[in-house]
Amino acid sequence: MSAFGTAQAMPSQDFLRTERAAKFILARTKLRPRIGLVLGSGLGAFANELAGATRIDYKKIPHFPRSTAIGHAGRMVIGKVGNVPVAAMQGRVHLYEGYAQREVIFPIRVMARMGIRAVLITNAAGGINREFKRGCLVILRDHINLQGTNPLIGPNEERFGVRFPDLTQVYWKPYQDAALQEGKRLGVEISQGVYAALPGPSYETPAEIRYLRMIGADLVGMSTVPEVIAAAHLGIRVLGISCVTNMAAGILDQPVTVEEVLETAERVKADFVALLRAVIPRMNEDLP
Ligand code: HPA
Repeated sequence: MSAFGTAQAMPSQDFLRTERAAKFILARTKLRPRIGLVLGSGLGAFANELAGATRIDYKKIPHFPRSTAIGHAGRMVIGKVGNVPVAAMQGRVHLYEGYAQREVIFPIRVMARMGIRAVLITNAAGGINREFKRGCLVILRDHINLQGTNPLIGPNEERFGVRFPDLTQVYWKPYQDAALQEGKRLGVEISQGVYAALPGPSYETPAEIRYLRMIGADLVGMSTVPEVIAAAHLGIRVLGISCVTNMAAGILDQPVTVEEVLETAERVKADFVALLRAVIPRMNEDLP
């Protein structure tokens, strides 16, 4: 290694901040979560049902970004799903709130530092695939990053991961299969699809939705992809679940509104909670 080699480089600011936040959280609970949950717009209710929970507002956690989006509580909840200790993010932050990508992925890195080995990432999304119905749940098979940026741009922190992370199997197939099986067993309407991420905050135009369909997207949203890329960098397996809260622009003869998004998320809450409750123990059986 040369005198300027990277292997012994000083930890980056990002790394030190991540460590500080992780220590702060772990000092407040005896649980040692192995699975992280990111609960998207209107989908945070699941965290209210965790047993023996410790709740910490994002604003109390050092360096943690605060969520400003509607339908996001802005709280980390550490508790158990059955026997499985989890760390749940009740709400996330987005690029459109003005946060830099590295702030968007900070909580994923903190959860990794806390010891999670897998993450279940959820979101509200617009349905592009005409076979989807409003309210159906979709297991993500893959994604298309159209946010015009990447959360790993900048000097690489080797303590997090490699310079060029592989994304071929980040949506872990055994988790997809487990989620489909559990969905069918519960009688929940469930499909599979490819998620396209745009920066937002405006919803798409009908022409953009036609374009997204042509390039192979089934769903569209404004989140998830940065977090999934960060998870891949950290070597963490991902299960992604979208709730189709509305049909994407131009599919129906009606506008896309945040009221519809939140109303649908509220309506599918029971199905969503049941699916997560069933899938998390299955993920726990298959941790790296
Ligand atoms: N487009 C983008 N993001 C969304 C949508 C949509 O139609 N619905 C929920 N989040």
